[in-house]
Amino acid sequence: MRGVILAGGTGSRLHPCTHVTNKHLLPVYDKPMIFHPIETLKTLGVTDILIVTGGNSIGDFMQLLGSGENLGVKFTYKIQDKPMGIAHALLLAEDFSKGDKVVVVLGDNVFDNAKIPTFSAADNDKAVIFMKEVDDPERFGVATVDEVGQVLGIEEKPKQPKSNYAVTGLYVYPPDVYEFIRTLAPSARGELEITDVNNFYIKNGRMCAVKLDGFWSDAGTFPSLMRASNFLWSKAEDARNS
Ligand code: DAU
Repeated sequence: MRGVILAGGTGSRLHPCTHVTNKHLLPVYDKPMIFHPIETLKTLGVTDILIVTGGNSIGDFMQLLGSGENLGVKFTYKIQDKPMGIAHALLLAEDFSKGDKVVVVLGDNVFDNAKIPTFSAADNDKAVIFMKEVDDPERFGVATVDEVGQVLGIEEKPKQPKSNYAVTGLYVYPPDVYEFIRTLAPSARGELEITDVNNFYIKNGRMCAVKLDGFWSDAGTFPSLMRASNFLWSKAEDARNS
């Protein structure tokens, strides 16, 4: 499988730090943010990686990451001209994915990589999402789950969340995802929403929802950036002391 890291957007929740720097170049503990989703893909065995970001920042990413040889991966870069949403950014991966499934990671997501459950990539027809119980579900896509744990749908940043299960920014999509994205209309905030994509697969019985036990956080706000940094710091301390 090929991997895609979405690292565009405006990073407005981290102003003024993101006025002149792309969010994904800010440090999370000891590395620029983008290194963490790269490590997530490597842990999943994915080394052929497309990085999508805005035109203002693409030179910085190329200078930082190069071909990927030093990190044991191979990078391809693409520009998203305008931050028109996560699904819009994913559409740019169509040629890169060459008719295969893709693993997509949002560039501001930090996982405890060792604790991501193995998932089957064999079923070419199904999408996969990873859900995590959180205290502040209203900040995320939130899964509606029935009494036997089946996911019935996802609401994007609901004021009254129907569960505590946030949909994390790690997704696997079958090759027909691009065809569906092309049919999407922008949401009220003017973006092509990844939640609409996920709801399409749920509605068609083509979604596999996996629960995460290990740490997960986004790093797109000051408190979550701090939380992600603290997690990585304490993990490094544990490793040093063991
Ligand atoms: O972190 C998980 C959450 O990420 C999910 O639970 C939500 O369903 C999903 O919509 C998303 O919510 P956010 O509001 O946190 O998304 P944000 O706009 O911060 O974008 C997340 C990443 O996607 C960001 O690090 C860069 C990338 N992105 C975003 C936009 C809007 C792009 O590459 N291009 C874009 O146009």
